[in-house]
Amino acid sequence: MELENINQTEKQFDEESSSVDSLETLESLRVKFLGKKGFITDIMAKFREVPVELKKEFGQKVNALKNKIETKIEEIKTSLAQKAIDAEIKNTKMFDYSLPVDTKTGSLHPRTIIQKQVCDIFKNMGFVVEDGNEVETEYNNFESVNVPKNHPARDMQDTFWLNNGELLKTQTSAAQNRILRTYGPVCKVIFPGRVFRNEELDARHENTFFQLEGVVVGKNVTVANLIYFEKAMLKSLFKKDIEVRLRPGFFPFTEPSYELDAKCPFCGGTGCHTCGNSGWLELCPCGMIHPNVLRMAGIDPDEYNGFAFGLGFDRLVMIRTKLDDIRYLNSNNLKIMSQFKTNM
Ligand code: DAH
Repeated sequence: MELENINQTEKQFDEESSSVDSLETLESLRVKFLGKKGFITDIMAKFREVPVELKKEFGQKVNALKNKIETKIEEIKTSLAQKAIDAEIKNTKMFDYSLPVDTKTGSLHPRTIIQKQVCDIFKNMGFVVEDGNEVETEYNNFESVNVPKNHPARDMQDTFWLNNGELLKTQTSAAQNRILRTYGPVCKVIFPGRVFRNEELDARHENTFFQLEGVVVGKNVTVANLIYFEKAMLKSLFKKDIEVRLRPGFFPFTEPSYELDAKCPFCGGTGCHTCGNSGWLELCPCGMIHPNVLRMAGIDPDEYNGFAFGLGFDRLVMIRTKLDDIRYLNSNNLKIMSQFKTNM
């Protein structure tokens, strides 16, 4: 009688479980058969009434049925979960990777691109690339490069002074003293950096701009060496030989001082918009390092000499990109900046 009941329950479970189509109905089924008041509990409660000779068989059958129900419920659960995933995939609009993309990609600032190119060129010629501080002492920015207090050359560079007596560096030359002290008498170093001047802004003047300074110190360094490195840099940057010329200049930290001009790479000297029809681009103030500057850096000018140059970096960028207003370079104007890509 009780064994019959077990078979009956199994049949009923087989039937009902075959039509389960959701987690809710599965849970009702579980409660109905395995719950505290479910069929299996009911059957087990009858154990006491089962005749002794049948107890063993009864016990085994109930356990087997209980296991079967538990296993089946787990199986159904897994298959329902899989069905839900399949349905979700089916209903998801898949992303088509072959569609054209209309998102805007970023690009490096043209100044960053050209700075990397110029630094790489000098690196290949054996130069170390160094850095400078943006806040500097008066000593480093002026005195150590031979511009003592009250020297008229200080007026050439309107300075942003800080309350503590320090300043925003007006020239990358401010790092010369520290670099010469660090690298000693025989060295080739370039140091790009941001500089600040208290200037009115116009198409050719910014209060925040970039320079790239270089120093070479050794024995018997000559102006010919200076010209060699500048020409090599220009050739690599413009991918052709560029003629240069020196004009006399004045800087307190060099003696003699020069302005190095490059023959306009665009018109070849015949005159165009970029060179203002002069055929030449004023590019690089430079000269032989003044003995006072060497001395202040702990280098004996009777034994060593060298040259220094300061590339007006924004100017170089404007020449390369043919931008005719320096203010674009700090403007974050994406319409203009995004025209210059890394392969510039
Ligand atoms: N520091 C100068 C300036 O900002 C540029 C300069 C000129 C740097 C001559 C040099 C140099 O190293 O030799 O106007």
